[in-house]
Amino acid sequence: MCGIVGYIGPRPSIPVLMEGLKRLEYRGYDSAGIAWIEENKGLSIIRAKGKLAALDRLLDGVRDKRTFIGLGHTRWATHGEPSEANAHPHMDCRKEIVVVHNGIIENYYSLKSELERKGHKFLSDTDTEVLAHLIEDALYKRVNDSLKDALIDALKQVKGAYALGVIWTKEPDTIVAARRQSPLVIGTTIDETFIASDIPPILPYTNKLIFLDDMEMAELKRGKIQVYSLPDGDKIEKEPHIINWDASMAEKGGYRHFMLKEIYEQPQAISNTIGGRILMEDGRVLFEKGLEFLEDLIKRIEAINFIACGTSWHAALIAKYWFEKWTGLPVHVDLASEFRYRELLLTDKWLTIPISQSGETADTLAGLRIAKELKSPSVAICNVVGSTMTREADGTIYTHAGPEIGVASTKAFTSQLTALYLLGLSLGEKRGRLSRKAVSQKIMTLLSVPGLIENRLKIWQQEAKGLSQIFSRHSNFLYIGRGLQYPVALEGALKLKEISYIHAEGYAAGEMKHGPIALIDKDMPVVCLAPKDHVYEKIISNIEEVRSRQGIIIAIGDKQDDALQSLAQYVINVPHPEDDDVLPFLYTVPLQLIAYEIAVERGCDVDQPRNLAKSVTVE
Ligand code: AGP
Repeated sequence: MCGIVGYIGPRPSIPVLMEGLKRLEYRGYDSAGIAWIEENKGLSIIRAKGKLAALDRLLDGVRDKRTFIGLGHTRWATHGEPSEANAHPHMDCRKEIVVVHNGIIENYYSLKSELERKGHKFLSDTDTEVLAHLIEDALYKRVNDSLKDALIDALKQVKGAYALGVIWTKEPDTIVAARRQSPLVIGTTIDETFIASDIPPILPYTNKLIFLDDMEMAELKRGKIQVYSLPDGDKIEKEPHIINWDASMAEKGGYRHFMLKEIYEQPQAISNTIGGRILMEDGRVLFEKGLEFLEDLIKRIEAINFIACGTSWHAALIAKYWFEKWTGLPVHVDLASEFRYRELLLTDKWLTIPISQSGETADTLAGLRIAKELKSPSVAICNVVGSTMTREADGTIYTHAGPEIGVASTKAFTSQLTALYLLGLSLGEKRGRLSRKAVSQKIMTLLSVPGLIENRLKIWQQEAKGLSQIFSRHSNFLYIGRGLQYPVALEGALKLKEISYIHAEGYAAGEMKHGPIALIDKDMPVVCLAPKDHVYEKIISNIEEVRSRQGIIIAIGDKQDDALQSLAQYVINVPHPEDDDVLPFLYTVPLQLIAYEIAVERGCDVDQPRNLAKSVTVE
């Protein structure tokens, strides 16, 4: 989730671009850069690794330059380490074209190879740089091409997601922009035009904004916008929207909290994590370069060992069910804080998989280092490119959730599940335990998940809000589930406790008779996860046990389920997908929203809960 800004107008562009980047700060970044065209002096680019302040320090002496067109970018790395060379903007060989991009070019590898064969020289490891050379190739293939037409040509070859801005020294009065799956906003005043990934950078100048839709592009001049459809280039008239948000609301995209925004971003985060990693027709999962070692490793390993903390540990517990079924290997799941202080059986025949959103969690890092000392090969699941864990593991599979600002992990969790689901399928297929057909069917089911969530987010939030009016004053909650729903019950309880400060406990439903049933009385709300899966009858009998002791039953399941309806005081409906294995994706989201709405009702600081940090970098 990078951030892009662009400006063309009478103001010196550098301060406008930097202010715009500062307003995209919440999108996170590991590097940043700006580029501008100066009359009779061509193109200039300044980029810096690290926070925006590092870039700002390099601008002394150039801020007041008489330049009236430019682009800026904050990078959240997906391909290529955070570095000055990989920071945007990126240029073509002639240093006449500059591109800023937010998204993932899925076929960049083949495009880059083709362009290198044509003699293009690349200076970075990013997918984005391919766009600059594609446009250059289009521009110089035909004479008198406009930048707009060249971009249309170039994008015909591109697969993947993009929001991009392009400028060219030979058209110093024009910015061209395009959008597919990544957001792009445009604003104009009488004689100036702005582009940005989001509303905040433009809001100080105008609240009349145009939102490009997928497969649309725009040619922008001072105070002028012309939108075209892609790939045919037909003119489109777009009505501007009037935005009445203040700056703080704008950073959250109009959502009240980052956590809510991130819950709603889950369909996109799951899609982005899938993006470019599946070959549907072949029923194969493809992982990025650097994981080739898995091919032979998977045939010789004898066990898999997950290490993680908190929500990431819950993801590992779910993955255990998938991986044992699909690979036939024994799977161990350890809390990293326990793993690091125990006598271990680990050998070089165990594959260690550390899971971490931040890639900086002290216990998980310590566990990874111990695994490496024991010669256990490792593949990290991580959301932050260039984080410590990704530099120490033998390989990394990145989640593409974008920066997660809320302390309570939501989109990172479902993105971890996505990466683990794909890895499990890949390992199962490589070990000859899953046929290509089986993998293809499971990929199809996974591809249905974003839509299933998208279609129900608002309904689930309304139902969660209703529950918050009733239960926000309760002091205890119990969450129970079986099979894949047991780790989901743990996750739901963790969400509630960490943001509402209510004591909530997740339990394997089969454990009720072994103690927790003593807790049940008329004041104990019990969230029961009850999909019609292979242990459905068992969870129904657990719910009956709770019911017979006057427990309050909040069921998550199928609204058409008469048994559930007769037992539960409240039922939140979750559709039943083709394949039970993806149920954790669907059952987690209502639990996130229940925790969110109860915390809001209790007046808690949802994004920054007391005593908690986003990344626990100390023991
Ligand atoms: C989850 O909502 C919490 N923020 C916390 O449990 C978190 O999952 C844990 O600290 C692990 O963090 P990591 O994924 O960055 O390693």
